Amino acid sequence: MYFLELGGEDDAFAIREAESAAADVRSVAPGLAVANTVVPERVHGLAYTHRASALLGRTDADLASATVLLEAAPIDRSGTVAVRATDVHGSTGVATDRAERELGQVLVDRGFEVDLEDPDHILRVAFSEGRLECDENGRGDLLSAPDDEGDEPRGERVSVCALGWLAAESVRDFGTRAPTDKPFFQPGSMDPLLARAVANVAGARPGATILDPMCGTGGVLVEAGLVGADVVGTDAQAKMARGARTNLEHFLEPDEPSPTGAERGSWHVGRGDATRLPIADDAVDGVVFDAPYGRQSKIDTHRLEDLVSGALAETRRVASRAVVVADRSWAAEAREAGWELEAAFERRVHRSLTRYVLVLE
Ligand SMILES: C[S@@+](CC[C@H](N)C(=O)[O-])C[C@H]1O[C@@H](n2cnc3c(N)ncnc32)[C@H](O)[C@@H]1O
Repeated sequence: MYFLELGGEDDAFAIREAESAAADVRSVAPGLAVANTVVPERVHGLAYTHRASALLGRTDADLASATVLLEAAPIDRSGTVAVRATDVHGSTGVATDRAERELGQVLVDRGFEVDLEDPDHILRVAFSEGRLECDENGRGDLLSAPDDEGDEPRGERVSVCALGWLAAESVRDFGTRAPTDKPFFQPGSMDPLLARAVANVAGARPGATILDPMCGTGGVLVEAGLVGADVVGTDAQAKMARGARTNLEHFLEPDEPSPTGAERGSWHVGRGDATRLPIADDAVDGVVFDAPYGRQSKIDTHRLEDLVSGALAETRRVASRAVVVADRSWAAEAREAGWELEAAFERRVHRSLTRYVLVLE
């Protein structure tokens, strides 16, 4: 059993992404989940999971309980150790430096030597308190509107401290791919964290082919390619197809190895209409697209509704899984195109923009 330290503000979505790297993922407290198994190489490529640790045990979110747990836990390793503690979202008020010292002392009393610089093993200790927004399967019912102010808070109250040996960490290099720092930038580009997460949910991994039929600057394709997927993109605008090529060349063809450890995938981008894809039936494993927003003008000959419906039908023809990101829920159009809605997430970006993420099978 492992515990996962989640990032971002939406645990249900983080858990959905973590399922691309772990089996049987369940939420246990805000920012924390457990999983039966993890694939370390895939954890390296996750956006909204920071770490996976082999679970030693779980107790209440206070230092005394964590100390008792660590004193009694069976430990089958040798070598030097360091303890790293975190108070998730500052929710518990536990002093993490004190927790690191006291739990480190427990390990010293059990015969370990501490090496803070380069330890053989890192003990992760995560304290979290709050309400569980997800159901027991880790899925959030995020299609319903958030609580109005004054409503009773939802979810069961929990207080958790998870202890475990660090097994894998994700590579936090997303800042190096901020949309404005890419060789080709256009307003409306997807930020690399969300792009990586939706690529992972769509099935990006070595050996898989991921298509973005409205690829814009290629944000999703870059992230899918960096975790090893072969990527294919089209865009109706020649300028976008050219710009996406520039970005893909820059990020998927450098000399140095990929920081996630995966070999970068191959890439192909051309000008094309998402409602009439020049791609054979069932030729790709997953599709991701970021539909133009209502206020974006360059939709060529299509009304936005026709464009999205047409693209949903075409993606259904070429793939059996899709992730759609948009400024409204296109769930009805997706069902009409023959998709089943597997999960849906709402993320409020700012006052006037909510992002909808639909996972379609
Ligand atoms: C929201 S943007 C995609 C942004 C992209 N995810 C990125 O990170 O840059 C939507 C894109 O859809 C493209 N588009 C509009 N109509 C299209 C169509 N019929 N076929 C293909 N692409 C289309 C636009 O040119 C635009 O680049």
